[in-house]
Amino acid sequence: MTDTTPQAWAEQPAEKALTLPSRYFYDPQLFAAERDRIFMSAWHFACHVNELAEPGAFVVREIFDQSVIVIRDRQGELHAFHNVCQHRGNRLLNETRGVQKGVIRCAYHSWCYGLDGSLRAAPRSDRIAAFNVDDYHIPPVRLEVFAGGVYFNLDPNATDMQTLFPGAEAAIREAIPDLDAMQLIQEDDVIVPANWKVIMDNSIEGYHFQLSGPHHVDLAALIDFDGYRLTHHDNWWTYGAPPNADAKQAYGVSLDRPPGNGDGFFNIGIWPHNTFYQFPFSQCMGTFMIIPLDAERSILRFGYYTPHDTLPEVTKASMRWMNEELGPEDIELNISVQKGLHSLGYDQGRYMIDAARSNESEHLVLHFHRLVFQALHGDASTPQEAPS
Ligand code: FES
Ligand SMILES: [Fe+2]
Repeated sequence: MTDTTPQAWAEQPAEKALTLPSRYFYDPQLFAAERDRIFMSAWHFACHVNELAEPGAFVVREIFDQSVIVIRDRQGELHAFHNVCQHRGNRLLNETRGVQKGVIRCAYHSWCYGLDGSLRAAPRSDRIAAFNVDDYHIPPVRLEVFAGGVYFNLDPNATDMQTLFPGAEAAIREAIPDLDAMQLIQEDDVIVPANWKVIMDNSIEGYHFQLSGPHHVDLAALIDFDGYRLTHHDNWWTYGAPPNADAKQAYGVSLDRPPGNGDGFFNIGIWPHNTFYQFPFSQCMGTFMIIPLDAERSILRFGYYTPHDTLPEVTKASMRWMNEELGPEDIELNISVQKGLHSLGYDQGRYMIDAARSNESEHLVLHFHRLVFQALHGDASTPQEAPS
């Protein structure tokens, strides 16, 4: 591409499009723009609603330098508010999750807050002129429950999730009927030295399945790879396939029954960085959250949820396989791509768009990049000064 204006990139026809220039994956200024224009108004998955079943149960989530408390009060209401004391700014909770038995007490001067973020008491404030506890409510953060997930958004004016992601909840519920019964069994954070989009790009194309490492080839063999479909719906997308009907084993465990409903591979992405999935033959739901730290580092949060008290062997094996085999294989690719993107010998590649073969095509990567691009540059195909 010789014309490198945003408008020229946005106007490329999909079949001939060149990828986002490599600076989009490491330039700190572009990353700062993504932070402000994408993540500061994004819906961030905090936890499954069942993680907050008990009164006082909370999770603390961080994005960049912001920390948010999501908590259930004693009346059963969920609240999200900033994790900061209104006196001199001390961070209130330092654990990631727990159950708050009484008030939330600041460790510095013991200001005490209710589970809705209201200030209940401030020691010695009765000696202070015109001190009113009602003036020091911790500012709330937008919270929504969507498809069994509790989400927060730092933008008070953010559009609600049902409007942003029409149809997504129905798609999750159809693929994961036990969604409401899911309980967290494991959560691990891994810091990956790669831009958040490098990780996302890797997860939303099947082109590399049969062409990269051995564990990807194993995954392709567990599904009806010809039936792998990647579909976008504006701000959300799905990719999945029916199970391989001839599979005799999965993740090293032999299958004691023929493949049935719910044994397929299912993934759903909720813009910009929330992914939920179910592996073939596995009865657990995985979460795959890509939480950007800076232009070239991201947290990959692997969560596992199941409706079962006792995990089937094949499900346990699928979690182990993700943590020890497939996950690391992809992470290595992501780290290697991140290094390559700095090369003076590379700027843009070619999206491998094959309209006839969804399973091997990179159309979803292009769609995702267009969403990023639009968030950064507005609708670049329409010049700002165009006469009306
Ligand atoms: S900073 Fe929290 S009570 Fe003083
Ligand atoms: Fe992969």
